[in-house]
Amino acid sequence: MTDSIRPQIVSGAKPETGHYEEFLVHPARFLYRAWQERGELAEFDLGGMRNVLVVGPDAHEAVYRASDEQLSTSAPYQYMVPVFGEGIQYGAPLEIERQQVKFLSNALRPVNMKRYAQVIAEEVEDFIADWGDAGERDFHETFKEMVLGTSTHCLMGGAFRRKLTTEFGELFHDLEEAISVSAVLDAHSEDGAFSRRDNARARLQEMLMEAVAERRCEGGEHIDMLQTFLDARYADGTGMADELIPGMIIWIMFAGFHTSSNTASWMSVELGRHPEYQREVAEEVAEVYGNSSDLSFTALREMPLMEAFANETLRLHPPLCALMREVMEPFEYKGYVFEPGTTLVISPYVSHRVPEVFPEPECFDLHRPEPEHIFASIPFGGGKRKCVGNAFAILQVKAIFSALLSRYELSLVDPPETYEEVMPSLILRPSDPCRLRYTRRER
Ligand code: HEM
Repeated sequence: MTDSIRPQIVSGAKPETGHYEEFLVHPARFLYRAWQERGELAEFDLGGMRNVLVVGPDAHEAVYRASDEQLSTSAPYQYMVPVFGEGIQYGAPLEIERQQVKFLSNALRPVNMKRYAQVIAEEVEDFIADWGDAGERDFHETFKEMVLGTSTHCLMGGAFRRKLTTEFGELFHDLEEAISVSAVLDAHSEDGAFSRRDNARARLQEMLMEAVAERRCEGGEHIDMLQTFLDARYADGTGMADELIPGMIIWIMFAGFHTSSNTASWMSVELGRHPEYQREVAEEVAEVYGNSSDLSFTALREMPLMEAFANETLRLHPPLCALMREVMEPFEYKGYVFEPGTTLVISPYVSHRVPEVFPEPECFDLHRPEPEHIFASIPFGGGKRKCVGNAFAILQVKAIFSALLSRYELSLVDPPETYEEVMPSLILRPSDPCRLRYTRRER
């Protein structure tokens, strides 16, 4: 980037570390400050790494339409390689990685989604069966547990799910802890979180290889993601090596687990904050679900208010706040030329708060019109690397909240402003405790 056409640098950079310390405390808040101070393009420095935050629909479109050769997704996400493993995703060459993403989206094709809807409905109903008439729960913990059950069941099938112990969730927790700002800079340092990550990854490999071997032995027809990976074929007709399948499972689980459980947690908080909207969504649930009493069928039907509620929640609280691309070949945008080595950062958290695109951005508005620009709302990213689990995630929250709102009214236990956005890792989530009260609805 030549000096004359560089975006302005955000204030407060320290001589050696730049903005690293401030970014570390709360990436989303730092990026928000960067945008407020510098606007559409804001340069910042993470320990010598040059980054530019790019904000707004036009900038998103330019980035999302660029080729992988020009703006690489793989280069800035190398810290994920120890999590998923060599040979998987960004630990594989681009043409292999692209085919692996196809295997993932194939696992989420419509015919499988019908089966997943049944599995999710069964899991959710079992989960809340003994909640009684009223009570108080930490809904962040609740949704973590619930989504772990639904995800492992859809991924690995009923037999694996029935054997699930708390160990599996704990191992995933250790993987998540290592997805931090320090991992972006050096994912192999001496940090204890990284050795816990490596131990957890090794143990998961063992557990999942057992399941792969069992399935190979058992044969038969199975509608789950594991089976899709076992049957997958690259363009040259070869299948995936069995040793790589645990990495695919960890990848899809990782992509969907915390994103979905945090979204459900935030939805419950926003339902508690807005009883008037809760009434509207509950009425829709009663209309759609009340007549069929089949939760899986309900989750597959259109529920415009529930979907709008999920979208508005994802606008204000997108779990992934910093999506990165590394410049590999000079990239031009509005007269600025970004040179190789620069990392471009798209932040759904910041872009969803631009008032010209989302008037009164801090206000949760269930009836907010959709922005015209297709690259304005980006909780699931955009372009050719848009989330392949979007429909699955929405199906899941529809099943969860249809089950909950048909039975219970939800209210906050603590004052609304105490449910804060925290980022102990690179994923945005509600602060602890995230307590809600549920009370049986009068029919
Ligand atoms: C509310 C829930 C979810 C949110 C907010 C979310 C968000 C995102 C975002 C922002 C990206 C793009 C990342 C980038 O451009 O750097 C992405 C990619 C991806 N997501 Fe999701 N996701 C969610 C649920 C899921 C689920 C449930 C699955 C799988 C079952 C999934 C699988 C994936 C995969 C495989 C990719 C990579 C796509 C590619 O590289 O082409 N996600 N997600």
